[in-house]
Amino acid sequence: MTDKKITIAIDGHSSCGKSTMAKWLAKQLGYIYVDTGAMYRAVTLFALRKGLFHDDTLDTNALESLMPSIAVGFVVQPTTGVPQTTLQGEVVEEYIRGMEVSSKVSQVAALPFVRRAMTQQQQRMGADGGVVMDGRDIGTAVFPDAELKVFVTASAEVRAQRRYAELQERGQAATYEDILQNVQERDYIDSHRDIAPLRQAEDALLLDNSHLTIEAQNKWLLSQATQCIEAQNEK
Ligand code: DC
Repeated sequence: MTDKKITIAIDGHSSCGKSTMAKWLAKQLGYIYVDTGAMYRAVTLFALRKGLFHDDTLDTNALESLMPSIAVGFVVQPTTGVPQTTLQGEVVEEYIRGMEVSSKVSQVAALPFVRRAMTQQQQRMGADGGVVMDGRDIGTAVFPDAELKVFVTASAEVRAQRRYAELQERGQAATYEDILQNVQERDYIDSHRDIAPLRQAEDALLLDNSHLTIEAQNKWLLSQATQCIEAQNEK
């Protein structure tokens, strides 16, 4: 029997726990986990650090000219085995999850030249299969031929509550109302942009986890992945 490594695309709305489930699944399967949202967040952090935002307006020309010099990547944390996002070689995990980056990332992720660069890098990372990639357009634009596609959603209120708890745990200040507004704004921008908007691929399985426990969700996910891998190996 061959041991074909498949590509798993996990797309969906923000703050649905996609990264937690994708990370967990990758560990179970011995696959590489790629958090594509973190890549867009790192580019946003770069723009902030370079002072390219003037209030909420981004100097897109300046960002485009600097694009070739932006190095986004991942290094595996030796103790946990979890990939950490890097920008220009520096681990930036703690800077890319706060409200400042969250409130600007959709604007950056809508830029065609940013999407082009990130998509190409993601396609290179997943070229040999054996990846679980989470994002918004993995099953529709980055890997439209992925063997398993899951589209995850939950109500905006449930998602805002989850993100609020996460930020509180990290000691980062934010109110529930601001987070809910941010979640709704990002949903809107992500699903209405011209290039690779957030949408469920026709062949994606829908997972609404508003009322699911993590255990029930993980069980379902692993069973879908296992069935898919077995089916591929039987071919
Ligand atoms: O998954 P996340 O919340 O970390 O993603 C951050 C932002 O990046 C989100 O607003 C949408 C955008 N994004 C995207 O446009 N395409 C992806 N593949 C992943 C994220």
